[in-house]
Amino acid sequence: MPKRAHLIAGILAPLCIATFFISTLMVELFGSHEAVAQLKSLIVTPGLWILIPAMVAAGASGMFLGKSRRGRLVDAKKKRMPLIAANGLLVLVPCAIALNRWASAGGFDTTFYIVQSIELLAGATNLTLMGLNVRDGLRMAGRLRVAPPAIKKAQ
Ligand code: HEM
Repeated sequence: MPKRAHLIAGILAPLCIATFFISTLMVELFGSHEAVAQLKSLIVTPGLWILIPAMVAAGASGMFLGKSRRGRLVDAKKKRMPLIAANGLLVLVPCAIALNRWASAGGFDTTFYIVQSIELLAGATNLTLMGLNVRDGLRMAGRLRVAPPAIKKAQ
C-alpha cells in the first residue's frame, strides 16, 4: 500500500508543478491579463490543494519506504526531499498566493513580474529535483534499467 501511494503521489506532485510551469509560461507569453489572472486563481484553487497533499504524501510514504533501504539512490532522494519541501513551502506557495492576489486586482507591475520570475525559477528547480527523485525511485523499484557503460568498439 505505501508503495502504491508513493507511486501515485510521486507522479502527481511533479505533474502538478510541470502543469503550473508550462501553463504559466504559455499564458504569460500569449495570454491576456484576464487569462493570467484566471490561471493564477486556478493554481491556488484547486492547484495547491492537490499539490501540497501530493508532496506531503510523496515525502511521507518515501521516508517510510526508505527506512528499510540502504544505498546511494535512497540517500540522494533523502537529501533532495528537504530542499523540495523548503522550496515548495517557502517560495512556491507564497509566490502563488501573492501572484493570485495581485493579478485578481489587476496589479501587473514590476513587482508582479519579479515575483513571477522567482516562481518560475523555483518551479524549475523543484521540477528538476523531483524528476531526479522519480528517476532514482523507478530505478530502485526495478522499473528503469541503469544504462551499462558504453563499450568502445575495437578498431
Ligand atoms: C517528491 C519527492 C519524491 C518523488 C517525486 C518520488 C518518486 C518516486 C517514484 C515515481 C518511485 C517509483 C515507484 C514505483 O515504481 O513503484 C519511487 C520509489 C521509491 N522512492 Fe520515492 N519519491 C520521492 C521521495 C522519496 C523519499 C524522500 C524517499 C525516502 C528516502 C523515497 C524512497 C523511495 C523508495 C525506497 C522507492 C522504491 C520503492 C520500491 O522498491 O518499490 N522517495 N519514488
